[in-house]
Amino acid sequence: MERLTLFSLFLLLIPYLCFAEALSTVDPDDSDDLLIRQVVSDGEDHILNAENHFSLFKSKYGKTYATQEEHDYRFSVFKANLRRAKRHQLLDPSAVHGVTKFSDLTPAEFRRNFLGLKSRLKLPADAQKAPILPTNNLPDDFDWREKGAVTGVKNQGSCGSCWSFSTTGALEGAHFLATGELVSLSEQQLVDCDHECDPEERGACDEGCNGGLMNSAFEYTLKAGGLVREEDYPYTGRNGQCKFDKSKIAASVSNFSVISVDEDQVAANLVKNGPLAVGINAVYMQTYIGGVSCPYLCGKHLDHGVLLVGYGASAYAAIRFKEKPYWIIKNSWGESWGENGYYHLCRGPHAHNLCGVDSMVSTVAAVHINK
Ligand SMILES: *[C@@H]1O[C@H](CO)[C@@H](O)[C@H](O)[C@H]1NC(C)=O
Repeated sequence: MERLTLFSLFLLLIPYLCFAEALSTVDPDDSDDLLIRQVVSDGEDHILNAENHFSLFKSKYGKTYATQEEHDYRFSVFKANLRRAKRHQLLDPSAVHGVTKFSDLTPAEFRRNFLGLKSRLKLPADAQKAPILPTNNLPDDFDWREKGAVTGVKNQGSCGSCWSFSTTGALEGAHFLATGELVSLSEQQLVDCDHECDPEERGACDEGCNGGLMNSAFEYTLKAGGLVREEDYPYTGRNGQCKFDKSKIAASVSNFSVISVDEDQVAANLVKNGPLAVGINAVYMQTYIGGVSCPYLCGKHLDHGVLLVGYGASAYAAIRFKEKPYWIIKNSWGESWGENGYYHLCRGPHAHNLCGVDSMVSTVAAVHINK
C-alpha cells in the first residue's frame, strides 16, 4: 500500500523534475526541498522508524556525543537526513540512498569538512588545452584498476582536502604509465606546502583543509619539482608546517592540460593518459550507498574533487530503469563509503554532463624518473 502511494507520487513528480532540470544551476537541495515538501509529510518519523535507525547508526559507526543536548541535536539532524535520503531515492532511483557515516552532519557541515573543491574555473599559467583525440574504437568497458594504475582508496577525514587526493590520484596513474611503477603519493605535502594562488582572483589559493583546486596543485607540483611518497610525508588531515624534502621526490609533473567539456573526449583522454582529476557536484554523495547514481536533477556547481578511473557499459539498475552506462569514480572517504569507496555516476548521451562531471577535467603527464 505504501509502495503504491509512493509510486504514484513519484509519477506525479516527474513533470516537475523535467521542468526543474532547466534550472540546473540551482542547488538541488534547495530546489528538491520545494519539490518534495508536498510528498514527505510529518507522519514520516513513524514510517522511517528514526530512533531505531539512529541506534543502529550510532553503534555501526561508533558515534558518541558529549552531552544530551548534542545527542538530541544530532538526532534531529539525523532525521532530516533520513528525509533527505528518501528524497534522493525518489530523485535518483537507480542508486541506493540511505544512512551513511555522514548521516549526523548537516549539509553545511558536510560541505565544509568532507569536500573542499574551490569552485573557480580559471586556469593556472601552465595549463594548456588537451588536444582533441579520436573517439572511435574506444572500448565499451575500461578500468584502470585492472591495469594496476590505481592505489587503494584513501580517507581525507574531516578536512576539506579532496583536491589533494584527486591530484595525487592523477599523478599516481600518470607515474605508473611513465614508469610501470605504482607509488602512493603524499597528499599532506599538498595540504601543507601548496599555497598556489589564482593570479586573477584575490584570495583564491590552495589552502589545505580549507579547500583547493587540482589545476593549481598540478601547477605547484610542477614548480616544486614533484611529490614525495605517502610514507615519506604521511597524511594527518590537519593543516601543518611544510616539511617537504626535495631529495625524496618520487614523481614529477611533465605537463598538465584541461579537457574540453565533452564526454567522449573525457573517455578518450582517460583511456590514453590514465586516471583523470575531475570536479563534481557532491550533493547526492552524502546519502549514497551504491548503484548507479543517475539523478533527474543535479546541480552543475562543482564542490568536490575526485578521480575518474574508468567506465562501464552497464550496471544492473532497479526494475523499470534500463541498464545504465556509468563512470567509475574513486573517492577519498575510505572504503566504507559507497561502492567500496567508489561512486558510480551515470554517463551516456542522456546524462548531459550530469552533476558537472565533464566540466572540470584535467589530465597530467609524469616525468620518467630513472633511479
Ligand atoms: C606532456 O609530457 C609528456 C611526457 O613527458 C609528453 O609525451 C607530451 O608530449 C607532453 N604534452 C604536451 C602537450 O606538451
